[in-house]
Amino acid sequence: ATRRHLSSSSTRMAVNNMTVFGGGLMGAGIAQVASQHGIKVTLCDLTDQALATSKTMIQKSLSRIANKKHPDSKDEQQAFISGVLDNVTFSTDPQASVKDVDLVVEAIVENIKVKKELFHMLDGECDAKTIFASNTSSLSISEIASATTPARRAKFGGLHFFNPVPQMKLVEVIRTEETSDETFQTLLDVCKRMQKRAVSCKDTPGFIVNRLLVPYMFEAVRMLEREDATAEDIDAAMKLGAGYPMGPFELLDFVGLDTAQHIMDGWRLKVESGEEKSLSSDLVAPSGLLSQKVKEGKLGRKSGEGFYKYN
Ligand code: 3HC
Repeated sequence: ATRRHLSSSSTRMAVNNMTVFGGGLMGAGIAQVASQHGIKVTLCDLTDQALATSKTMIQKSLSRIANKKHPDSKDEQQAFISGVLDNVTFSTDPQASVKDVDLVVEAIVENIKVKKELFHMLDGECDAKTIFASNTSSLSISEIASATTPARRAKFGGLHFFNPVPQMKLVEVIRTEETSDETFQTLLDVCKRMQKRAVSCKDTPGFIVNRLLVPYMFEAVRMLEREDATAEDIDAAMKLGAGYPMGPFELLDFVGLDTAQHIMDGWRLKVESGEEKSLSSDLVAPSGLLSQKVKEGKLGRKSGEGFYKYN
């Protein structure tokens, strides 16, 4: 069915505060960008240690931005950084974190069971008005939302950000069959408020970006396995011949070899079970070279080595 075009006068809720679950790279980035645009943020994770790491990540990213914004004034740089950080509350108490909150954004581990447990718990804790969104990159939004009551499912959608969140201009907004027009519009408004370009996509594997990017990266690995070309030349080719900011191997090292493999493994299970018809079995075939590297702990930049070595 075609969706009704929503005019700017359609009902929506103003999001003034947001709670982000998961203080990893993505969660910390989302919290930072929301705070930069005047949304009051609570960042919630399991331990104080995890939150300390999130705070350091946010500080580092903000200083890059501050250096550019105020190149001639250390005071103004510092004022900018503290202004954004003061707007973020760090918490290890999930129940207290969602009191009166307009929007919850989940960016925890990519595990369907753990995500469903979190949202089921939050459904019981949150006001009826609270909108729920997941930053999942590969799981089904409807399946995650099924852990909540029907009323909440109307207030459930996907908000998929890209790494590095402060730099990447895109957010994919996912609506399920049950997401209400008001919720969808509110999610689009939040993206606009954060000065991101929103695109919408149905609740399909990988949405738009990963559906194209992950098979492309796997195809590059297969090319390397066949010894058609070297990793360096494939990367140079895609940067200089297709205008990509990073080649496929640089990008694999950047997103994490384990992350790319995890996405593909999830898709393969769905193809094998017959649940997913839009992906072919060739497309989701595993890569021996990639699996081997993951087994050896060569996960990319974060582990110091992937297809390239890092200091
Ligand atoms: N915080 C703030 N600013 C940042 C930043 C951060 N974490 N990281 C980079 N920047 C800024 C830099 O300050 C710099 O700003 P300037 O141009 O105004 O001076 C700009 O970004 C470029 O950074 P660098 O000069 O350090 O390096 P590059 O020019 O190589 O850019 C990059 C780095 C932005 C990461 C670029 O290489 C790029 O766009 N790569 C592709 C990234 C990509 O494809 N991401 C998506 C991955 S898929 C994904 O996330 C989905 C998930 O579900 C798997």
